[in-house]
Amino acid sequence: MQAIAYPDDYPTFDAIAAGAANRDYRPTLVSGFINDRHKWYVSAPTAPGSVAIVHQIPGKLRRGDASKLYEMAYMSQGDILELGTYKGLSSTIMGEALRDARKPFQVYTADLNEEFVERAKAAHVKMRLTNVHTHVMEGGAFTKSMKDKRVKFGFAFIDHWHGYDATVEVCQLLPDIMMNRGFVLFHDFTHIGNVSDDPAFGVIQAVEDTLSKDFKFFGIFGCCALFRYEPKHS
Ligand SMILES: C[S@@+](CC[C@H](N)C(=O)[O-])C[C@H]1O[C@@H](n2cnc3c(N)ncnc32)[C@H](O)[C@@H]1O
Repeated sequence: MQAIAYPDDYPTFDAIAAGAANRDYRPTLVSGFINDRHKWYVSAPTAPGSVAIVHQIPGKLRRGDASKLYEMAYMSQGDILELGTYKGLSSTIMGEALRDARKPFQVYTADLNEEFVERAKAAHVKMRLTNVHTHVMEGGAFTKSMKDKRVKFGFAFIDHWHGYDATVEVCQLLPDIMMNRGFVLFHDFTHIGNVSDDPAFGVIQAVEDTLSKDFKFFGIFGCCALFRYEPKHS
């Protein structure tokens, strides 16, 4: 099946400022729901007054974020990189998807907060996942270490520090660590902080300034932006 791109999703400044840039789940690589677990994420319960899904593992993912993570991990053609482990929700979803797809690939996730990583490890044990590997490390340094080891990923979820410099550092490393036609999902791409002068947010600016044009925009899902690496030399 041909991958479906949603180029019209690309958010304008005004749409982000108005909180109107987020999108619900739509498929990229599959038609319909993959299985009941995927279907559950698409319409998962949310906490009262919140857009965050209610899950056994604590986290702050929207339905659109969680269901796209499940789909992209399920369909991944290689190992998965995650920056920003927190308490293990997103890594759990990706680990579950790889397990459900019976794929041998692994999730490698890094967070600089040791306490969160311990919480995430406990979450992975609780969910009986053996395919998620945690690291206490700064996100850019971890990505650089993957480049130095010449590791390539089929999918990457970038959800650590959303400031400009941290995102630039990762954007510049992505061409070296992604497989051809691998996907990258940037969390909080549509966060209102990106159109304010809050220094904690600079995702969209960093991506526009420094992500190689070999990464093609594939759409907005929840508050995330999806890109596919399509290098011209491949
Ligand atoms: C939004 S949370 C990640 C949520 C997680 N992906 C999930 O959905 O369950 C961001 C995490 O990034 C971590 N973090 C912040 N700056 C970082 C950095 N420079 N390198 C690595 N981790 C960082 C924080 O400790 C926090 O746990």
